[in-house]
Amino acid sequence: MASPLPAPEHIAIVMDGNGRWAKRRFLPRLAGHKQGVDALRRCVKACAERGVSALTVFAFSSENWSRPADEVSGLMELLARAIGREVPQLARDGIRVRFVGDRASLSAHLRAGLEQAEAQTAHCQLMLLNICFNYGGRWDIAQAAAGLAARGEAITPESLDAAMALSHVRDPDLLIRTGGEMRLSNFLLWQAAYSELVFSDKLWPDFDEAALDAAIAAYHARERRFGLISEQLASEPPVLARA
Ligand code: IPE
Ligand code: IPE
Ligand code: MG
Repeated sequence: MASPLPAPEHIAIVMDGNGRWAKRRFLPRLAGHKQGVDALRRCVKACAERGVSALTVFAFSSENWSRPADEVSGLMELLARAIGREVPQLARDGIRVRFVGDRASLSAHLRAGLEQAEAQTAHCQLMLLNICFNYGGRWDIAQAAAGLAARGEAITPESLDAAMALSHVRDPDLLIRTGGEMRLSNFLLWQAAYSELVFSDKLWPDFDEAALDAAIAAYHARERRFGLISEQLASEPPVLARA
């Protein structure tokens, strides 16, 4: 059953714990990643049903290249296959897909797949799904600054913000990390400045609707002050979120 609480506009998730999910079952790590794709499909549906406008997920970090070669190649293949299998249904469901991250080091085949998925869902309006793949917060800040410098533009919080890979969405309201670790691991370093952080002990393949609703409930129990004091909030709701 959907949560009676209004959903945050933008939810971001560090989908962590696939490897441990597999290890506990004496399965190869890739089996956990496959279950992770199923968990993401369910989560996208649940978020759309709850009225979330944007869901941003961390699927592969800049640092994940350093994992064993067979896991890295398995993840690349898994993404390529998942795109082919899932995108037609996502398009029917009104989910617009965008990939966020450095595409230069991905294979031409995978790059073509990402572009096709974006083109096939470009008209969709129910919810935006940003898939951060070969993404790192430091990469994003550096590429934004490099772009401004190359164009001879001033580097300010506003200009950097506009040059960032997620400039097409407002900052996340709620950032969830599954798998029990309490760190960002280079996710959304800039955009999570005022996100509410919720950590779930559930491993990502086990993250279900109840866990999502628990995270949304935790979000609603917070007071978002954006640097103000409580007494100010009733009279002047803080507007820090980006346009
Ligand atoms: C997250 O799960 C998915 C990726 C990083 C690709 P992990 O693979 O990090 O799972 P754990 O943390 O080892 O359990
Ligand atoms: C973060 O998880 C990256 C993704 C979920 C894609 P990691 O498993 O790579 O993070 P660390 O190594 O535990 O910090
Ligand atoms: Mg992990």
